[in-house]
Parts: sequence; C-alpha cells; structure tokens
Amino acid sequence: MSNALHAADTLVSPDVPSRPRPFRAPAPVPHSEPLGFFGFLKTASRNPIEIWGTRAFKEPYIVGSWLGVPNIVVNDPKAVRHLLVDNAKNYVMQPLRQRILRPLLRDGLLTAEGQLWRRTRKAIAPIFTPRHIAGFTEPMAARSQKAQERLSGMAGQTVDISHETTLLTFDILQATLFSDDIASEPDAFARSTSDFLGSMGRVDPLDLLGAPDFLPRFRRMRGRKSMNYFRQLIAETIEKRKRQLDRDPDGAPPDLLTLLLKADGLSRDEIEDNIITFIGAGHETTARSLAWTFYLLSQAPDERRMVEEEIDRVVPTLDHPSQYLDALPRTRAVFEESMRLYPPAPSLNRTALQADQFNDLTIPAGSTVLIMPWLIHRHEMLWDRPDHFIPDRFMPGNRDALDRYQYLPFGVGPRICIGASFALQEAVIALAVLMRDLRFDYDGRNQPNVVQRITVQPENGLPMKISRR
Ligand code: HEM
Repeated sequence: MSNALHAADTLVSPDVPSRPRPFRAPAPVPHSEPLGFFGFLKTASRNPIEIWGTRAFKEPYIVGSWLGVPNIVVNDPKAVRHLLVDNAKNYVMQPLRQRILRPLLRDGLLTAEGQLWRRTRKAIAPIFTPRHIAGFTEPMAARSQKAQERLSGMAGQTVDISHETTLLTFDILQATLFSDDIASEPDAFARSTSDFLGSMGRVDPLDLLGAPDFLPRFRRMRGRKSMNYFRQLIAETIEKRKRQLDRDPDGAPPDLLTLLLKADGLSRDEIEDNIITFIGAGHETTARSLAWTFYLLSQAPDERRMVEEEIDRVVPTLDHPSQYLDALPRTRAVFEESMRLYPPAPSLNRTALQADQFNDLTIPAGSTVLIMPWLIHRHEMLWDRPDHFIPDRFMPGNRDALDRYQYLPFGVGPRICIGASFALQEAVIALAVLMRDLRFDYDGRNQPNVVQRITVQPENGLPMKISRR
C-alpha cells in the first residue's frame, strides 16, 4: 500500500435517514489473509469477485503485481476521474478483457480501440439520443405487460426470477433491435442467443496467465459452433432488412437495426458486430439488475411498500410510459441502489500506455489499472453502511451529495455505456408494469451465492414465489 487517503479527503455520503434495520445484501466475505499464487488462480477462475480481501474495501489504492506487470486498484473517486476522464487517452481497455470478448464481439464498440472506436462511437451515438430512446418506450411497456400476464398466470408458483428477467430483457431487445423481424423461429433465435451468451461468461485460467492466443481455450471452444450459428442468424436478419430498406426506405420499422443501417460510416460487418455487442452488453446486464432489485425488495418489505405505493399513486395519472422514468423517483432509486450493491459490470479494466502520476500515486507504463465498481460501491470510506440496501441514497436531493465518481454502474468518461439511458428507462418501465399487479417473495433456503461471470449474478438463480397483489 503506497498511499493513504487522508480523513479530510474521504467522501462518506451523508448519513441518510432510513427505515429501521436496512437489509444487509449478501456478498462473498472478503478474506483477511493473502490467497497465494495458486489460491488466486483458482479463485479468480471460479469467482473473480472473491479474490478481494478486506483492504480492498478500505483503502484508496492497492498496488501489487501479477506475472511481473504492475497491478493498481484505484478506489479514490478523484483518481478515478483522472484515469477515466481527464487523462483517459492514456488508458486502453485491458488486454485480458479484450482476449475474452474480442473473439465474440470482434469490432463492436465495446471491444474496439483507437481510430476504429472513435469512428464507431461517432456513428452510433446519434442512435442513442433521448428522442430515439423515448421512441422505444412503447415496445418496452408492451413486452413488460406480456411478461406480467405470463407471470400472473403462474401466481402461487416459484420461478427463477433471474431467468424470467432474462426472458423479458431479451424480448425487449428483440423488439427494439429487430421489431421481431428475425431470420428464424423466435425460439431457435432465443436458444442461440442464450448459447452465445453462455460462451461469453467464463474466464479461462490461460487468459489470467497471459498465455499466447494459439493455446486452445477449451472452455470457449465449446461455444464456437453455437457462436457461428448465432452470427449467421444475425447476418441473415440484416440482409432481410437491407432488402426491405432498398425496396421501401421509409417503410421499415424505426428500430435499432434500421437506425444502424442508416447510420453514416458503418460497414456491413461492423453493423453485425455492433448488433452482437448490443445483445452481449445490453441484455444480461439489465436482466441481472432487475432480478437483484426484486430480490432486495423482497428482503425489505418497507421499501417494497413505498415503491408499490408510488406506482399505484403515480402510474394511473400518466399518459404514456415515456413519462415513467421522471415520474417514479423511488422506483428508479431502488434500481440504482440495486446496481450499487450488485453492479452488473463489476470491473472497468485498463492498461496505461505511458507512465502517469496522480498526486502520490505512480502508475508505470504498461500497468494494469483496475477501477472496480464492485469495490468502490461497497467502500467503507465512501458509503454509510456500504453493504446495506438503502435506496434513499438515490432519492432526489440525497443523490446530489454523492460524488460523480463513486457510483459507476455505467462507467464514466468517453467509454461510458452508450445504452445507459436505454437501460434505465427499460428497468423503470419493467418494474412499474410488473409490480403494479404482482409481488415476488424470495423462496430460497439460503441466501444467494453471489458470483461474477462477467456480470454479477446469483450462482443458482433466485427462486421467487409469485403472488398477485
Ligand atoms: C443495467 C444495464 C447496463 C449496465 C450496468 C452497463 C454497463 C456498462 C459499462 C460499465 C460500460 C463501460 C465499460 C468500460 O468502461 O470498461 C458499458 C459499455 C457499453 N455498453 Fe452498457 N450497460 C448496460 C446496458 C447496456 C445496453 C442496454 C446497451 C445497448 C443496447 C449497452 C451497450 C454498451 C456498449 C456498446 C458499450 C461500449 C461503449 C464504448 O466503449 O464506447 N449497455 N456498459
């Protein structure tokens, strides 16, 4: 440990009033002893969020090394700003993450770098404007309503809510991406997507060891066939739409696919890569956060009552689902607190191109820099009762007291999530529609085991009993 954050520099959010005894959200218990080389390797490949010890939740920086490369964990919000915003050009996506994701997402925005990234971001940014996103509220509400009806028919039963929210966000993505106009049977497409996403999730120990790419990664090879099939389906779907646009440029549905095909400066392959990227980056992330939100609310009945009360009082007065996000601050706060406790993207990993200095923190060229929402969101210096579910932190007024760089579910800086507004809008609409008539109660024998498989998720799903309100 090379630095200490002085008490005066700390950013503990104000002690916001809360209901009695907020719920302590389960998480792996940080270890107090070092894991050792093999212990680290084993833990990192089984469940990466378990590698963190108690210090990682207390200190502003942790400086170490892995296979001779300096490894710097940065928890101090001021340093986060320096790395991801002020000096962002000095940091590229870390090769390990690229090695895992690039075979799947190729030249998509998430895995692109340098000139390719700049050009792609510029071409795609106009697609995610507030006007276009507001245009997606209707399919979001309609698909949530469909899910609500299906789940209502299962009242009295226990379902894995994690699975159900995955079906819902997939349905929403399919509606907003393709307007259901896909080149296969919907079930075959859903199965193929699920296989593809399954092959995205695992870290191979060879990657952690920095082994060269020619050594086979057996975990990923299993997914290659399903990945090729998935790509083929996407390619055929694009071709189908392209033919339609050629025939009738104004007649195609105003969805993400049409917007991508009309965007300036994207090749046919880049459109394919970015559709796959949207599915990879935007489907499971939102689904996990929604599932965790239902779980957390089931453990905090007072909080749940307040959300239900807000939905019952406000939703009937609204004309259109595009108003939900602004009109339902408590529903939004609950979702934001759920992303604090279980950030779907728990780590933002970078590599320093040149040596860098921030105050007393020295970052040698080539260092791996880890900015971990998983740690920052539960950091003892930054949050009052960091492990507890306290949605009041995100209510208007209280939220302003948070440092911009202590809450990073969507990242920050030039590579901030391009789908952040899309995801927030989707989540609030889904919660409002589902919670209006339904209640979900946790039905597991033990607390869920929290694991990282790219996203932070419950190891064996989240069994929840459905009832009608
Ligand atoms: C709750 C839902 C979501 C979360 C928590 C989330 C989180 C993130 C984070 C943390 C990053 C930045 C990664 C980094 O800096 O290393 C990111 C990037 C990205 N996200 Fe999201 N995301 C969500 C939903 C979506 C959706 C719905 C879409 C698309 C429809 C999407 C598309 C992307 C893309 C394309 C990037 C790469 C941006 C770039 O590098 O320029 N995400 N996301």
